[in-house]
Amino acid sequence: MIILKNLTKTYGSINAIDQLNLRIHKGEFFGLLGPNGAGKTTLIRMLSTLTPSTLGSISIDGVLMDRDKSRVKSKIGIVSQHTNLESELTAKQNLELHGKLFRMPKDVLTKRIDESLEFTNLSNRKNDIIRHFSGGMKRKLMIARALLHSPEVLLMDEPTIGLDVTARRKLWDLMKRLNKEGMTVILTTHYVEEAEALCSRVGFLNFGKIIALDTPTNLIRASGEFALECFDERVNETKNMFFSDRETALEKAKSLSTSVNIRPTNLEDTFVLLTNRKVGENHECFNHSLA
Ligand SMILES: Nc1ncnc2c1ncn2[C@@H]1O[C@H](COP(=O)(O)OP(=O)(O)O)[C@@H](O)[C@H]1O
Ligand SMILES: [Mg+2]
Repeated sequence: MIILKNLTKTYGSINAIDQLNLRIHKGEFFGLLGPNGAGKTTLIRMLSTLTPSTLGSISIDGVLMDRDKSRVKSKIGIVSQHTNLESELTAKQNLELHGKLFRMPKDVLTKRIDESLEFTNLSNRKNDIIRHFSGGMKRKLMIARALLHSPEVLLMDEPTIGLDVTARRKLWDLMKRLNKEGMTVILTTHYVEEAEALCSRVGFLNFGKIIALDTPTNLIRASGEFALECFDERVNETKNMFFSDRETALEKAKSLSTSVNIRPTNLEDTFVLLTNRKVGENHECFNHSLA
């Protein structure tokens, strides 16, 4: 289990992570959903020992990060937001490099390279140079690399950013398979449909705070499962209202003179309701001006 207690990271006057308390259980597929600047990368970097906290603590399976960084590190695999592979080396050479950094014995490393490439369907490309890889293949290789030292937790920071729909879906399947085999997966995303499709639990991150935390179904249910969309032509604006049953939504629709549409509520609606700001909008400017 991963336990965050009062975790805080400040940059000057900005609270990138603000007194976060959170428990993530073994085997969970946990999603952190939030707009740009919400603090997702900061939190992932803190969980992966790369960024020290200003206040508070992180423990993994009872091991406090500040006490035993290298033990925590061995339990964690990370796929960072930006591609950081050696583009002039082959897939296999990239993995060998990582294995050496983790001081993996040569025979274990050889075995794990084969297994990780097999798992990510990259075995037949192992001797190809990264420069020729597609975005999706690079992401898969970054996952293979993160799995090399057999971590218990996989941290992924916006793993599908910039990928086309097909590559994204393939990566979703890969992540699902990993989780099904027992891996604890922590993923950040600003794609609402990604969180909804993959995660057993989702935390909405907003200005460094988790403002809601539950299963996608419960988060949606709490807003009302039926959304009534009304487009007001006078102001060219769509307004949404939420209802727990279709009948009440229909009743309301009949009383309106605007054009209306009743549809199932989604996780984006819930986020907007809670924050009054769409997922995907940039927080940077707001965060700075509020700080
Ligand atoms: N190294 C840094 N120095 C100063 N400010 C930073 C640094 N890293 C992140 N921030 C600020 O912290 C906030 C959260 O950033 P980040 O964790 O990158 O958000 P996200 O990954 O959700 O887009 C932002 O306001 C960002 O500008
Ligand atoms: Mg980020």
